[in-house]
Amino acid sequence: MKIGVLTISDRGASGEYEDLSGPVITKIISDNLNWQVSHQAIVPDDVTIIAESLRHWCDQNVQLILTTGGTGFSPRDVTPEATRQVIEREAPGIAEGLRAESLKITKHAMLSRGIAGIRGQTLIINLPGSPKAVRENMQVLLPILPHALELLNNDAGSEQSHRTV
Ligand code: MTE
Repeated sequence: MKIGVLTISDRGASGEYEDLSGPVITKIISDNLNWQVSHQAIVPDDVTIIAESLRHWCDQNVQLILTTGGTGFSPRDVTPEATRQVIEREAPGIAEGLRAESLKITKHAMLSRGIAGIRGQTLIINLPGSPKAVRENMQVLLPILPHALELLNNDAGSEQSHRTV
């Protein structure tokens, strides 16, 4: 299992800020699913660099990429635009679920433009940037991640789930 965590932050990439959210994701994944993060990077809020990083990891057969940061309204927040360039199929239910559950905690959840989608056999999910938001969003994701990846990596998955006899 290859898992990638991509932190997207100008200040994180320049070393001005320590990346707290990336390690939070890594620990939650390890503690709860016993999956180890194999790919980790911090990149600036730049569409081209973000999209290149995502494509590169997809080419390396990373099964799940969780991004953190750059989903808000500031002019430099371009993570969803970069992700949209890379994915082949959207997974809107994931972004809808994250926002719906997050709205129960803070109305500011409406300010995250994060998306989710699939490129080949890689699932890419945008999470907001703060460690608090990451923790809350991961609690929503944890129950669905194993089945999501199982379906992505199993050609017969959808056929089996519809079988009644
Ligand atoms: N979602 C949850 N669950 N908890 C939060 O604290 N913060 C919101 C939102 N989603 C938040 C959340 C805020 S304040 C913003 S601005 C957006 O995510 C976008 O965050 P980003 O620009 O760091 O990606």
